[in-house]
Amino acid sequence: MAADVGADAALVAPAHILITGASSGIGAALARYYARKGMRLSLVARNEERLEQVALECRKAGARTEWNTIDVVHSEAMRSWIEECDGRQPIDMVIANAGIGGENVIAPPAGESLSVSRDIIETNVLGVTNSVIPLLPRFVARGKGHVVIMSSLAAHVGLPDAPLYSASKAAVRVYGHGLRRLLGPKGIRVTVVCPGFVATPMSASVPGHPPFLWSVERAAARIVSGLGRGKREISFPWQLAALTRFAAVLPPSLIDPLLQRTRRGRT
Ligand SMILES: NC(=O)c1ccc[n+]([C@@H]2O[C@H](COP(=O)([O-])OP(=O)(O)OC[C@H]3O[C@@H](n4cnc5c(N)ncnc54)[C@H](OP(=O)(O)O)[C@@H]3O)[C@@H](O)[C@H]2O)c1
Repeated sequence: MAADVGADAALVAPAHILITGASSGIGAALARYYARKGMRLSLVARNEERLEQVALECRKAGARTEWNTIDVVHSEAMRSWIEECDGRQPIDMVIANAGIGGENVIAPPAGESLSVSRDIIETNVLGVTNSVIPLLPRFVARGKGHVVIMSSLAAHVGLPDAPLYSASKAAVRVYGHGLRRLLGPKGIRVTVVCPGFVATPMSASVPGHPPFLWSVERAAARIVSGLGRGKREISFPWQLAALTRFAAVLPPSLIDPLLQRTRRGRT
């Protein structure tokens, strides 16, 4: 949709992309999608074996690829590696994708525990800011850069299965849109990505059949195409995007009984 395409910053094809959560699922698919000659990829996740395997595939496809096993929660480790990567070649795009979800965040009957709530907020919110903030002064000084934040359609509604996961995705969605309004005039692009269900280990961990499930390759292709067109928000599939946006504007008294029926977790 043309109205969603940002006009405040020039569109430049990225030559160096940093991706967090690149060892699996959407992050790994994005790394593979972007991997080609002339591209530099800097990949972050915690699992060494899986991350190294993805990096190897990207190198085979022709991309100069480096990787590091860092927990995105560790702000100093993230800052220092991001600055190192940017020093080797300026980073054009950061994709803050690492996140926890699926069965690990499904709320038991009395709600999430304190430790799960801390893990969700630290990984899904602070993990995003730890990945993005070290680059912002550099992007502003260069007058260019593209920040990509992985949110979710769950950001539009508080899901009874995962209240804190929904809240974490709402937080980074709003952060991304605010950041663009702050930095857009300085030439910085910010895109918020809101997927519905994508077939990854995360979604597979939840029992049942998620509606409108997309393959990870299809999701990566849609994200890359939207980023290439400078979209401010990339949401898919359209059916779930329309439903969640509509649900978000209904009064809670109307939408609560409907959303309560979506609960699939432990009752
Ligand atoms: N799949 C869906 O249906 C769906 C829908 C909407 C939004 N999303 C979002 O999309 C993103 C990717 O999810 P996915 O479905 O691809 O899940 P996934 O296959 O489980 O991948 C998650 C990635 O995040 C990394 N990660 C998790 N915690 C981390 C940490 N503390 N530090 C560094 N890396 C960490 C994981 O790597 P390590 O375990 O190696 O650290 C892995 O590479 C998430 O933000 C998720 O919330 C997914």
